Amino acid sequence: MPQTSTQVILVNRPTGLPTSSDFEIRSQPVPEPAAGELVVANLYISLDPAMRGWMRDARSYVPPVGLGEVMRAGAVGRVLASRDPNFAEGDHVSGLLGVQSIACVPGKGLRKVDPKLAPLSAYLGVLGMPAMTAYFGLLEVGALAADDTVLVSGAAGAVGSMVGQIAKLKGARAVGLAGGPEKCQHLVNELGFDAAIDYKHDDVKAKIKATCPDRVNVYFDNVGGELLNIALTQLAMRARVVICGAISQYNHLEKIEGPSNYMSLLVSRARMEGFVVFDYAKRYDEASQQLGAWLSAGKLSYRETVIEGLDNFADSFAKLFTGDKLGKLVLKVG
Ligand SMILES: NC(=O)c1ccc[n+]([C@@H]2O[C@H](COP(=O)([O-])OP(=O)(O)OC[C@H]3O[C@@H](n4cnc5c(N)ncnc54)[C@H](OP(=O)(O)O)[C@@H]3O)[C@@H](O)[C@H]2O)c1
Repeated sequence: MPQTSTQVILVNRPTGLPTSSDFEIRSQPVPEPAAGELVVANLYISLDPAMRGWMRDARSYVPPVGLGEVMRAGAVGRVLASRDPNFAEGDHVSGLLGVQSIACVPGKGLRKVDPKLAPLSAYLGVLGMPAMTAYFGLLEVGALAADDTVLVSGAAGAVGSMVGQIAKLKGARAVGLAGGPEKCQHLVNELGFDAAIDYKHDDVKAKIKATCPDRVNVYFDNVGGELLNIALTQLAMRARVVICGAISQYNHLEKIEGPSNYMSLLVSRARMEGFVVFDYAKRYDEASQQLGAWLSAGKLSYRETVIEGLDNFADSFAKLFTGDKLGKLVLKVG
């Protein structure tokens, strides 16, 4: 009897926030793996803002997901069968396994993960792609120095929470922008940020001035839009603005709001640079070792919001945009 995979298929290109009508749930027989391929039972699927871009038929750093295709996503799972000599049945792996219960994929591009070192879902967050993004974005693109003040937006999310903690571990000051008092308390009390700004209720500019008296050396931007525009006015000399993402703009199809205050870059002799974490793939082991060491030494805290069931994909994904979650958002395969 062939196995069956439950798959979430993209059937419409969403306009605005994706809804369940943009996806269909289908059952498909799992093919026999060809040479070099693995069959993997997915256990946890990563819900990432980038997936919104992958639903759009536009030029980007990867091709869009085609209509009728399984929605692309990172995931961790257990190998059921392997025709790649680097993997064996029973191994745990992470990689682009898609929003489905069972994947048949090439072994190339997958990484082995160890459930004895950390819970498997951690390989999607504190030890996974978001943490690598924070690590390389802050240390390489942001060129962090120990006496810097780092301001990060989306600070209570998967990437932002790591940016603030890595900044602190490297001796810098960390100030986070997040939505609502609970998230702000979490940043200061649990993650060790020096200060937090509630962008939904505070006067953001006044609060940046108050919490960053020597101005901002690194602005790590996950959000774009108005927060980016305000942050640009508060840069220190030779500041680095790291363009990691712009989640406030991802559902705006017609017009993306750009920063009118960009001349602040000239005044501050600052630079603004975008990056994609995949550019650092050859150095993932280096980041994994450092993040793993910090985690085992109790130097990193993390939260996850885990929702169960592939049927809940669209509603769960929307939480990235409403902010109705804390830390890394994960879909557990039921
Ligand atoms: N460049 C790369 O290679 C790379 C890799 C990974 C991720 N990213 C980017 O990094 C960013 C963060 O990703 P993540 O996985 O860590 O997501 P996340 O921060 O865990 O989740 C998204 C958060 O964004 C905030 N948000 C949503 N809409 C907002 C708005 N209009 N204004 C301000 N904040 C808003 C919400 O928090 P609040 O409740 O605080 O509003 C929400 O919890 C995204 O832009 C993503 O595309 C880039």
